[in-house]
Amino acid sequence: MIITNFKTYETATGHLALSLAKIHEEVAKETGADIRIAVQAVDLARISHEVSIPVLAQHIDPVVHGGATGHILPESVKLAGASGVILNHSERRLKREVLEASIKRAKEVGLVTVICAETPEEGASFLEFDPDFIAVEPPELIGGDISVSTAKPEIIEHATKLIGSDKLLVGAGVKNGADVRTCIKLGAIGVLLASGVTQADDPKAVLIDLVSGLQT
Ligand code: G3P
Repeated sequence: MIITNFKTYETATGHLALSLAKIHEEVAKETGADIRIAVQAVDLARISHEVSIPVLAQHIDPVVHGGATGHILPESVKLAGASGVILNHSERRLKREVLEASIKRAKEVGLVTVICAETPEEGASFLEFDPDFIAVEPPELIGGDISVSTAKPEIIEHATKLIGSDKLLVGAGVKNGADVRTCIKLGAIGVLLASGVTQADDPKAVLIDLVSGLQT
């Protein structure tokens, strides 16, 4: 599985987000790979209705219908067409009790949960919340040129032991098929990445290369 987090990159905002989403859909159709995207809340409805690949929200709040001005209601995310949600990204960290409540709300409305963790130990500590996936990303490597698979392969092996392969995603600095191949070989089921695709001159070529790494 490959999840591209669009974050708030200019190249992945508004109409450019839609174009980038369509490129992901094209590559998913051409290769048969499990490719998902996580888009900004404001872009969620339009993109979810225009592409057939799974679209995730980058965040939800553990609120209910009623008086929660300015929050992201899980039901709205589901109605907008999202299939899942990223929670606790290192750029959007949550207190443990808020994370627990958010996972509960996501499950109530039927959203697949991808919970981010900064270390394998932190990721393993989230197993008690029974999320669908746990994404381990060393924060110091996020947005950089060196992949977690090159800089800290031992983190992936350790995370595999603590979390298990069926739930484990890894990320930070993942840029090409070789990086993906190493992540998978070391036990992850997929990768979570952003800049490698959103900042690429040719995102389609990058995605095709990334997908090649899924076949170890
Ligand atoms: O959510 C994915 C992310 O934090 C990794 O970012 O740019 O290092 O692939 P990047």
